[in-house]
Amino acid sequence: MKNTVTRDILLEERYRTGSPRSKELFERACKTMPGGVKGAYFHRPYPLTMNRGDRCYLYDVEERQFTDFANHHSAMILGHNHPAVIEVIQEQLANGIALGASTGIETELSEEMCCRISSVNRIRFCNSGTEATLHAIRLARGFSGRTKIAKFEGGYHGSHDVVEVSVSPPLEKAGTETMPNGVPTAGGMSPYATEEVVVLPYNDEVSVEKLITQHRRELACVIFDPKTGVLPQRKEFVQFVREITRENRVLLIFDEIVGFRVGQGGLQEYYGILPDLTTYGKIIGGGFPVGAFGGRADIMDLLDNTCGNTGFSQSGTFSGHPVTMAAGLATLKQLTPEAFAHLNELGDRLCNGLNDLFFCKNVSAQAVNIGSVFSIHLTGEALMNYRSLARTDKEMTHRLFLALLEQGYFLSHGLSMNAISLPMEPIHIDGLIEAVEKAIG
Ligand SMILES: Cc1ncc(COP(=O)(O)O)c(C=O)c1O
Repeated sequence: MKNTVTRDILLEERYRTGSPRSKELFERACKTMPGGVKGAYFHRPYPLTMNRGDRCYLYDVEERQFTDFANHHSAMILGHNHPAVIEVIQEQLANGIALGASTGIETELSEEMCCRISSVNRIRFCNSGTEATLHAIRLARGFSGRTKIAKFEGGYHGSHDVVEVSVSPPLEKAGTETMPNGVPTAGGMSPYATEEVVVLPYNDEVSVEKLITQHRRELACVIFDPKTGVLPQRKEFVQFVREITRENRVLLIFDEIVGFRVGQGGLQEYYGILPDLTTYGKIIGGGFPVGAFGGRADIMDLLDNTCGNTGFSQSGTFSGHPVTMAAGLATLKQLTPEAFAHLNELGDRLCNGLNDLFFCKNVSAQAVNIGSVFSIHLTGEALMNYRSLARTDKEMTHRLFLALLEQGYFLSHGLSMNAISLPMEPIHIDGLIEAVEKAIG
């Protein structure tokens, strides 16, 4: 692809010139923290340090304004400093930050969630999506009496051992497309993790059916990351996974840690499925660390020890933290059908606009979205599974990311899983499309 992004040899140099304070702060951070920042924030040559956020904008330490499409990994659906959220946080701070007892706010949030989501009869709160998937898998194992899990190649569910199998395997180690190998993603994982996981390919009914039926007597669950706004899933495929798991008496855990931001009933309503268990995170904490898992009462009630010890537990010092619960509840209250319609229309406007642009300019790139979550993939290949995502042009992605930053648009540095926030209007969307046009020339 020949375009302005590839030819611009001064892109990185201008980035450095524009961000001396970020450079200084990053170098200082590296002295006491390995890599300076958490892995997800790092990109070449060094990441920007942000000072503050307001509505859909971020301001870096040089006081430059950026329109925020990274959206804290999609969690800040109302944008930054929404007055309704700030008000309840301040109220809760005045009442005490953490009281070591139930405050009743988590009950209100649980009622709101159970009311919105048909498959969720009971729910428990924890501190991260990682914890949510860990506990959901434990429950599935306990309920079924089986040990193995199945997950999709390229699916992400946080950072405990079994779910870190085959998140981003190098293609030369990944085995065949229809029967992928289990490849550990991180050093130090239990050597047994890969043995406990059956890896499934996305969007391939034949292989999924074969693998699930073959392993059905050992499988506690299939955990399904729908890769919201990253890898399009055919509705029929998602429904097929629901049916094939039900037929084989294998529990389905649907991961809506990102997908819950697409509508009142979340992604399962959009796909028309009822999972056995679902995991949540991100937007339901209003910007604070959060996770939750919920689903069928007969499974979730394993955690009910009020009438005697069931042998199951889920706890955590800060689980159901009152400030988090208050911020999450205030956030959900803002998420009316009209709010979702606004967010989702903007998501469609953006992707249609970008895809028209790529078509007109004959650029090997595509934008994908579900509602307000979107990605820009630098490839002309049809996106079928993890492997098509692994073949996108990483160098071009990096250069486009820098070119957009230069024009005041902050996206995730892989241009993947970006999100639109409620304060945004068509002008922000059209501005991003124009910035991409300018970048590709
Ligand atoms: C689909 C999905 N599941 C699980 C997680 C893990 O959540 P957390 O980062 O809160 O542990 C993430 C995080 O991005 C996610 O996108």
